[in-house]
Amino acid sequence: REIGIKDLFKDSFHIGVAVNAQQVSGKEPKALAVLAEHFNSLSPENGLKWEKVHPKPEEYDFEFGDAYVALGEKMKAFTIGHCLVWHQQTPNWVFEDESGKMLNKEDLISKMEDHIAVVAGRYKGKIDGWDVVNEAFNEDGSFRESKWYNVAGKDFIKAAFRKAHEVDPNAELYYNDYNVWKASKRKGILELAKEMKSEGIRVDAIGMQGHYMLGSPTLEEIEQGIIEIAEAGFKVVITELDVDVLPRPNNAQGADLNINFANSPEYNPFVNGISAEAEAKLAQRYADLFQLFHKHKDKISRVTLWGLHDGRSWLNNFPVRGRTNYPLLFDRDLKLKEGIFEKL
Ligand code: XIL
Repeated sequence: REIGIKDLFKDSFHIGVAVNAQQVSGKEPKALAVLAEHFNSLSPENGLKWEKVHPKPEEYDFEFGDAYVALGEKMKAFTIGHCLVWHQQTPNWVFEDESGKMLNKEDLISKMEDHIAVVAGRYKGKIDGWDVVNEAFNEDGSFRESKWYNVAGKDFIKAAFRKAHEVDPNAELYYNDYNVWKASKRKGILELAKEMKSEGIRVDAIGMQGHYMLGSPTLEEIEQGIIEIAEAGFKVVITELDVDVLPRPNNAQGADLNINFANSPEYNPFVNGISAEAEAKLAQRYADLFQLFHKHKDKISRVTLWGLHDGRSWLNNFPVRGRTNYPLLFDRDLKLKEGIFEKL
């Protein structure tokens, strides 16, 4: 029996991983063994997002969620909910009345609170921590002009945290976002988080989504983020960790998701296997990141990978479709990559 990654960090932080529907329903038996061996925290990759768990006004679908929390219980894992409120993967009807007219602030917030009451209520005592609000800020630290914000202003964020706490007073509550290593974005996030705290609203940690590349952001930038979040009075959770090894097409915005890059040697160079050079860089990047996290173990309560193995990573289809990426700790045969944890 090998030593699991979770055992290496047992005195530091939880080691988590995002799981999908096949995995929680036991259709990837090999995956279940690796999960149990190496991880002591779980996140749901998609199954608890609004469009999945609450696809229609009067219809909730708890098939994934129930299997997910059962797996978490079986593994005795620290089980995360992701995410109660987000501008993506949220149906349009959420923002409209029956005639298709935009809701007013009061009605939108009350619809959001109902959703939180039902979802967080069902998993009360079973989900240990919730990403309450996801990605509500722009890179310059201003609020993202989502439908949530346009209708309800920043009050939707406060109301979401209040409701989540009322529904499950023991659950940890997180604000989660990407590029929190950017000073400008972090400033906006921490300002709001401190404001909420001063108003008595529970916020346990700031989630730094770790969607990184080989060379960016720098370790110094990430470290600065960890330090400032801790100084502001919050724990850090490193969520959604993965390392994109492929070049980013310049104009890779959402619209390009429709373009299939499978036949591009420039942007999809590793179809038949990753080069030894890139593989070594990836291992070094992960080793450096885990060393940094370990250095700040007093500030970090969890590090979560965004997927179990390369074959299941969303980065095969983001920011463009149809590529073969290698961003995770386990390869497509579920073998742990070498050169990452040996030196720790
Ligand atoms: C991604 C999933 O991994 C994909 O399967 C899905 O198609 C889109 O969403 N930030 C988040 C995550 O908070 O929920 C996203 O997950 C990745 C970006």
